[in-house]
Amino acid sequence: MSERKDSAIRCFETAHGLPCWVLEMRDSAYVLGVDENGLIQHLYWGAKLGLDSDYGNPAAFPGRSDRPEGISNEEFLVWGGLSYTEHCLKASFKDGVRATSLLYDRAEIDNASVHPSLTIFFNDAHYELSVRLRYVVVSECNLVVRNTVLVNTGNNPIDLERTMSATWRFPLRDGYTLRTLNGEWSAEFQIQESPVVVGKQVIERRTGSRGHDAQPWFGLHLPGTSETSGELWFGALAYSGNFQLILERTANNQVSLTGGISDFDFGWRLGPGESFETPAFVGGHTTKGYEEASRSLHEYEIAHVLPSRFAREVRPVLYNSWYVTEFDVNVANQSDAADRAGQLGVELFVMDDGWFGRRNHDRAGLGDWYVNPEKFPEGLGPLIDHVKSLGMSFGLWVEPEMVNPDSDLYRAHPDWVYHFPNRTRSESRNQLVLNLSRRDVRDFVFDFMHRLLGEHDISFIKWDMNRPFSEPGWPDAPEGRDREIWVRHTEGVYSILTQLREAHPEVLFESCSGGGARVDLGIMSRTDQFWMSDNTDPVDQLFMTEGFTLAYAPLARMAWVTDAPYAGNRVPPLEFRFHAAMLGAFGLGGNLPSWSQEEMEQAAQLIDRYKAVRRTIQHGRFYRLLSPRAGQLSAFQFVNQDRRESVLFLFLLGSRYHTHRQWVNLRGLESEARYLVRDGDAPSEEVGGQALMVRGLFVEIEGDYVSRLICIERVPQ
Ligand code: DGJ
Repeated sequence: MSERKDSAIRCFETAHGLPCWVLEMRDSAYVLGVDENGLIQHLYWGAKLGLDSDYGNPAAFPGRSDRPEGISNEEFLVWGGLSYTEHCLKASFKDGVRATSLLYDRAEIDNASVHPSLTIFFNDAHYELSVRLRYVVVSECNLVVRNTVLVNTGNNPIDLERTMSATWRFPLRDGYTLRTLNGEWSAEFQIQESPVVVGKQVIERRTGSRGHDAQPWFGLHLPGTSETSGELWFGALAYSGNFQLILERTANNQVSLTGGISDFDFGWRLGPGESFETPAFVGGHTTKGYEEASRSLHEYEIAHVLPSRFAREVRPVLYNSWYVTEFDVNVANQSDAADRAGQLGVELFVMDDGWFGRRNHDRAGLGDWYVNPEKFPEGLGPLIDHVKSLGMSFGLWVEPEMVNPDSDLYRAHPDWVYHFPNRTRSESRNQLVLNLSRRDVRDFVFDFMHRLLGEHDISFIKWDMNRPFSEPGWPDAPEGRDREIWVRHTEGVYSILTQLREAHPEVLFESCSGGGARVDLGIMSRTDQFWMSDNTDPVDQLFMTEGFTLAYAPLARMAWVTDAPYAGNRVPPLEFRFHAAMLGAFGLGGNLPSWSQEEMEQAAQLIDRYKAVRRTIQHGRFYRLLSPRAGQLSAFQFVNQDRRESVLFLFLLGSRYHTHRQWVNLRGLESEARYLVRDGDAPSEEVGGQALMVRGLFVEIEGDYVSRLICIERVPQ
């Protein structure tokens, strides 16, 4: 074989002359091989072993026809023959044949690229369908990125009924637990754990694109796995449309997870010469617990997913108008808010909903993207100039995929929304979804956004999406292609964003969907940050941040401080609210003209403090030291890349009986170094890195909703 012994991807032959591939990362390995029936068998995914020959032998997994029904260890199981476990592909051919039979053709290894890759080629045994399985190795993050390309090499259409990105297979072990991120509007990113029982657990989105309830992320761990230790496998699907992650445990304890575009109501006609590429499914393995799994994903996202223009930069402190003026924005109230925001050191002033069309409430105006002349008689120019004269840049809210029936756009183009003839067009938030599967509708959206950005000095766009799909019909679709809308819509959003970024490279984009209902690695590669949740209660923000950061980098998490209470009666002090919002990218959304002088001064100081440490927060390593789920005191720590600076946040929800006293073990510092610990105005203390990590930092804290921001700096030697 031509690969060197130390290549990231190597091919070796078993004693039976069967090819196997070892994909080696910094700490882990992923191994697969061809069996004597020409099927690709999964051999190993776990910590690196010493010898290639230790990784197993595909002959030990004979073809499925020799096995009891329903049992397979194939990398990419297709539907056809005696296979009953979750498969990745179901296709039907012109003559009515609905079974696929793939045979291994060849493989290509590319070790020369920054990220080495392996591509395995298959052909159908009879029909003109070829399939490529692609594996990209991101060694420093211990990640394998998988996807599939299907190519119609013949002259007849092939109908795809299911096309998943990958099946991940896990070792035969007992006691797996599945961790997922679930939630609802205003309560996103809730951590849920469940035992893996015989049968299936499905994490799914059927709403088109908006999904507070299910995240395309999973963790699967063995007994004893914690934040800092233990073995787990994890993955994230880079897709913003309908998806499925299906965890399956067979009666003989094989555990696998198949994921990709949901096959619910899915259909795709693969025309002659056409190809279909599935979204990437990123998978990782670690023996060091969830913290290490999150770190792998955070580093991968910053290095390879987030748009490169702003990926290495810090996110500006922003102000957003939504909670204060809602639809009632005008040049006077926005200028007043901007004056106050400017005094606090805000860097980006964002006007939310209400600035366009006849958008005086959520019942009208969506789709009419002209500046409302009553609210802004001279257009947006004077407000933008005012904001800029205060030293801030200007940002704007849009919801381009939607239309209110009460709009000029809908009156002119009632056929531009998804609908079925003879069925009600169900409204949600008084709006319908524009059919971005259509080229003319995509062009309309791109054109108005391009014009908006071209005609105004806008540095930031908050791209919102506020309802699920219903009646997903496309009556004028080309024959046999009406069910493609689920995929075409997402493709449309992606392509418009890609085009806009090319045309306006200096604009920062935020993805929003009624809070955090469209957060995933797919949209992340086209937008720079996410609005985590409409819920700005600081206690709830702690819980959601814990869940969010399991999968996504704090840099991409936007949260604001608003007026309290957000809901209910909880009114934590301003400092607590600021600290909770600071665990990532930070913004404000309160009624600043009503804030007292004292509150304004305190806010300005806190923002200064945040700016001084935000590079460490946004680009450092993140440690969930004490989970808010575990007790009254929670702690989050950030450490910059060279371990010179660390920021520790402590949040006490309430004291019970006495002052809360606890040693909090820090992480990620240099054991040999000495650090200066500065807790607000208290005298700073010099402590060794080893002591801070092994013994911890002694914390004495009292009261309800009390928080601290503690800076820890390495003492120069
Ligand atoms: C939903 C978002 O989550 C809010 O922040 C706000 O932008 C509204 N939409 C505006 O309609």
